Amino acid sequence: MEVYILPDEDAIGEAIADRIQKVFENNANANLGVATGSSPLPTYRALAARVADGKLSFKNAHFFMLDEYVGIDEDHPERYHNVITTEIASKVDVDPANVHGPEGNAPDLEAAVKEYDQLIKDQGGVDLQILGIGSDGHIAFNEPGGSLVSRTHVGVLTKQTREDNARFFDGDLSKVPTHCVTQGLGTIMEARELCLVATGAGKADAVRELIEGGISALWPATIMQMHPNAHVFVDEAAAAKLKLADYYREIQAAREA
Ligand code: GLP
Repeated sequence: MEVYILPDEDAIGEAIADRIQKVFENNANANLGVATGSSPLPTYRALAARVADGKLSFKNAHFFMLDEYVGIDEDHPERYHNVITTEIASKVDVDPANVHGPEGNAPDLEAAVKEYDQLIKDQGGVDLQILGIGSDGHIAFNEPGGSLVSRTHVGVLTKQTREDNARFFDGDLSKVPTHCVTQGLGTIMEARELCLVATGAGKADAVRELIEGGISALWPATIMQMHPNAHVFVDEAAAAKLKLADYYREIQAAREA
């Protein structure tokens, strides 16, 4: 994995937008994997600015979301499909019909998750996947203890994740859904490029495990160590527990030289 320790979230947003722009310069029909959470927001701002400036276009792209709550109202602002529409899809030139996510309210969830995996394949796969990370090391909603090769599936949210996300539900844990549908780690690992963002001290343990820990179901994101084209973007606070931070900085400087 390539590690980038950058000064702040705006620098991270621009760096990931650079990588996305490169992908779309090589292939105007590329597919982008989009994530919810606060971590990707600076990237979305950078992408929207580039589209407004005519430097980048998503008009032939498909966007694939990572995950969704089960049983959330269709018009709830925290329904992930609505979050992605608000934060990125409505601000760029992607066709809304090409914004796809796992369906959390399907009458047959087991059939719906299989169809979602198939849809990603049928559209040629995800070229670049943006990722955040949970404080417990989850990516998408792949919680600790799950399979490292899972496909899109129905999952149970941990108390930690529900507490982390209660801020989006009036701070009321009882309003946070208990279940989700999520791309599996196996699905995510098929994206051709992964760009994970982690900022703030609350992510420092997860970042240490992600980059320097052993691959383990206890820290699901560690499976990314097996990806041939994975990039991790962190700020100083999130990098604070890395043993080899100075070494990563040296490599980063050599890369930029
Ligand atoms: C949720 C999402 C994840 C996201 C995580 C971190 O659990 N399902 O995809 O990475 O939140 O969110 P944030 O970036 O706000 O810390």
